[in-house]
Amino acid sequence: MNRHKRVLTGINTTGTLHIGNYVGAIRPAIQESRNPNVESFFFLADLHALIKCHDPARVERSRMQIAATWLAAGLDPDHVVFYRQSDIPEIPTLNWMLSCVMSKGLLNRAHAYKAAVDAAVAAGRDPDADVLMGLFCYPVLMAADILMFNADEVPVGHDQIQHLEMAREAASRFNNLYAPADAPFFVLPKATGGSNVEVLPGLDGRKMSKSYNNVIPLFEGGRAALDEAISRIVTDSRLPGEPKDPNSTSLCVIYDAFSTKEEGAAFREALRGGLGWGEAKQMLAEAIDREIGPMRSRYETLMAHPDDLEDIMQAGARKARAYAAPFLEKLRQAVGLRSFTHQQETDVSAAEPTKKTCSTLFKQYRENDAFRFKIVDGVRELFISDEFASGRDAGQWVKRLKGEPQAILEAPGALLSGVGFADVVDALRRLQAYEAEKAAQRKS
Ligand code: TRP
Repeated sequence: MNRHKRVLTGINTTGTLHIGNYVGAIRPAIQESRNPNVESFFFLADLHALIKCHDPARVERSRMQIAATWLAAGLDPDHVVFYRQSDIPEIPTLNWMLSCVMSKGLLNRAHAYKAAVDAAVAAGRDPDADVLMGLFCYPVLMAADILMFNADEVPVGHDQIQHLEMAREAASRFNNLYAPADAPFFVLPKATGGSNVEVLPGLDGRKMSKSYNNVIPLFEGGRAALDEAISRIVTDSRLPGEPKDPNSTSLCVIYDAFSTKEEGAAFREALRGGLGWGEAKQMLAEAIDREIGPMRSRYETLMAHPDDLEDIMQAGARKARAYAAPFLEKLRQAVGLRSFTHQQETDVSAAEPTKKTCSTLFKQYRENDAFRFKIVDGVRELFISDEFASGRDAGQWVKRLKGEPQAILEAPGALLSGVGFADVVDALRRLQAYEAEKAAQRKS
């Protein structure tokens, strides 16, 4: 079965966008979506937005603005699947299924949750004072977004890589529990460094970010707002005619993002030769507007025709659900949420109960002249032992641990890798049950 690589991009629907977002995320993502060998999914993460924003008018406005922005910037809804997360009811159902296989211990380690806890503790408050369930469970919903469409790649910023790891974890747990080993339901999605929203410096030279109040707005406020923001780019006070250092301001870096190499070089040369800052800023505004001006008028047209926007999003939802609905049905079957008539149709009374093999295993291996063993559960490594001098030593530990899992508590120097202690004990219990079952089968 050969299918195109599937790339899925989730878009936050909070706030409005600046040209840093455009250069770092929107423009490259749209470029990539034109690759004929890629199947692209783009969606507005508007369920996620509810975690941070409890102002309905802002939620409404923001998701509309952001939908219009991506379309105006050139995202072609006929060639990609472009939809609102909240229009796909299959996603929350999958979210729940994944919640039922993911451990709280794993989510405890999520950066966003830990940051909220740390901030509360630092302020002398209850650790969970500011933690909504939505925030805590954020990574599960994100896993559902990704796994619902079996995305191979997800372009994300640095801060999201941990979420991708959690999505992989959710996928492999679900696969291990419910899928035959040779036909997993989910592929394990990879994080790719597609979007790097930090590439552009802001007016003051720090990275362009709303939290620094140093942004150049993308469309909002029109050309006037663009000119106004550019006029506030920090420069030194050299007068026209004086030679200027092109690297003394963020002006040139921003100019580069909207011009050819040659134009960029000429611009720098002109500054060295005495071009005034005022004139340079005008040239920057022209360069930016050359590219985004036509987009801005498409944006304004879209914003003035919410019906058209709505139609586009509805069509996108239908396309997305054409994937999601049959897939979710498969998953429902897998977990046992089946039609009551299913039993009669398949006559389970005659069928052998399916024998599920235990996917938790001890594996002994050799690495750099040392011996170790690990406990793996499907693809996850639950436990990696310290080094042993001989294979026999490692083997003895394996034997002991199989016999008395609690002994892992006493394993001197044994190191837990990646997962919590509860997972290891749980894995060992499953192993024991499996071995016991095998022994019983041998007897009968
Ligand atoms: N968490 C992402 C962000 O903050 C947005 C997002 C939600 C997302 N669901 C996703 C991104 C699924 C990729 C895939 O940017």
